[in-house]
Amino acid sequence: MVYINNLSEHVDEEVTLKGWVYNYRSSGSLYFVEMRDGSGICQCVVAQDAVSEEAWEQTEALRQETSLEITGKVVEDERSIGGHELQVTDLNIYQVAEDYPITPKEHGVEFLMENRHLWLRSQKQWAAMRVRNEIIYAIHTFFQERGFVQMDAPIFTGNAAEGTTNLFETEYFDDEAYLTQSGQLYGEAMAMAHGLIYTFGPTFRAEKSKTRRHLTEFWMIEPEMAFYDLNMNMDLAEDFVQFIVKRVLDRRPKELEILERDTSKLRKTAENGFPRISYTEAVEELKSDDMAAMLDQMVEDRKQEAEDLKEERDEIEKERGQAKKWRKAQIDQRVIEIGKRLDEIEEDLRNIPDWRESALNFEWGEDFGGSDETLLTMKYDTPILVHRYPAEIKAFYMKRDPEDEKLAMACDMLAPEGYGEIIGGSKREEDLETLKKRIAEHGLSEDVFQWYLDLRQYGSVPHSGFGLGLERTVAWLCGLDHVRETIPFPRMMGRLTP
Ligand code: 4AD
Ligand code: MG
Repeated sequence: MVYINNLSEHVDEEVTLKGWVYNYRSSGSLYFVEMRDGSGICQCVVAQDAVSEEAWEQTEALRQETSLEITGKVVEDERSIGGHELQVTDLNIYQVAEDYPITPKEHGVEFLMENRHLWLRSQKQWAAMRVRNEIIYAIHTFFQERGFVQMDAPIFTGNAAEGTTNLFETEYFDDEAYLTQSGQLYGEAMAMAHGLIYTFGPTFRAEKSKTRRHLTEFWMIEPEMAFYDLNMNMDLAEDFVQFIVKRVLDRRPKELEILERDTSKLRKTAENGFPRISYTEAVEELKSDDMAAMLDQMVEDRKQEAEDLKEERDEIEKERGQAKKWRKAQIDQRVIEIGKRLDEIEEDLRNIPDWRESALNFEWGEDFGGSDETLLTMKYDTPILVHRYPAEIKAFYMKRDPEDEKLAMACDMLAPEGYGEIIGGSKREEDLETLKKRIAEHGLSEDVFQWYLDLRQYGSVPHSGFGLGLERTVAWLCGLDHVRETIPFPRMMGRLTP
């Protein structure tokens, strides 16, 4: 089989492509068919006098998403989508598609979510899934090359790992069980057998949060390392994320272009170290005069930008009347872009006062909200690592800071550009008695943790690990503003189908 992404190896040859009609237009005795085959899109030109009568009849029957095979000669054509064109000599339809519900016109997101099984064929969705795949490949490569053993943690569990408020409960014969929130505790057991391990599996949180960062079912990658302290943990997290970003930049430029991703900041992430600040420093920063001033400046900048955009729009709309057809199309495109940007600015201008308020009133001991995370990363182009959080807001298994009992040796990675927390991690408590105390303090039952406590009885060692949320990482790298577009079939509050 020949695929569109390999056409450069077949220039001047006759090949047969199998796929679907992405788009088409006709002008008399010529048809321009944009065909997609999963690997890319290729423009196929059908000239009535170059094909049989039968093939021409089939050409005239084409509809969007009709499945077919097309034979023709590959010619190089820089202007063409994908850089090649097929001069068609034959064409055969598998099935003429019914009227396809997703047309090039704009659709509401609810409609698209209802048709997610079809929406996946659209260009941006296609590109996002290929970036996701590249990230998955990069993750395995990174850990495998460093001697980590991949392990599968169970999905049915008898115990909570990340707090009891967001557990999905299910029946397990005569017992109750939960869907796992994290593979970490099992990862710790495996790390005591192999030293370096990572899990890569589905995790579940019954969070009643309808935000653009929350799914009820998401994929988490959790490395766990025997003998690692917090700094080693942060070093690994930084190398790991840089590796992923580099890979995607190197290997998915076409997809990033389809997604219209501005890659300048991603490049900075690939090249520069990530700032590390303590939670306490982060709180000071949030409440600082500098932060307030930065937000005030941001409001001014946004207002100015909006004025400039409106001026530009007025000008090009004036020009439109006399413009040539191609220029009209260009103007219409730009007007849509300006409209989108103005909506974003308006949203920012609505939000910034709330962000400012919430930052200034932030109290030490609280957990960062989405907007606080956005503000904390705003002055950096790379992710930042925030460490040493108040123990009260963190999980029972985290080691306390020997220099300050109130602090947990936790480290979260916050992505820039408003993407927020992508990694949560920590050093683990390795002392048996202290761990038992923590379990009790968190109101958890020691019974279900017997096996976990065993790890502290038989050769306990200092160890650390972290968890990366795959979907948030995909959203950040693709520049998508909601995690629902980062996984083929998202599960969220209020969404279980398709
Ligand atoms: O910070 P979390 O809850 O950490 C843990 O579960 C630890 N057991 C990890 C470890 O140390 N091994 O979750 C880790 C990451 C978050 O930073 C976020 O990226 C993602 O998982 N995440 C979610 N992603 C989508 N939807 C949700 N509801 C998520 N909750 C967490
Ligand atoms: Mg977290």
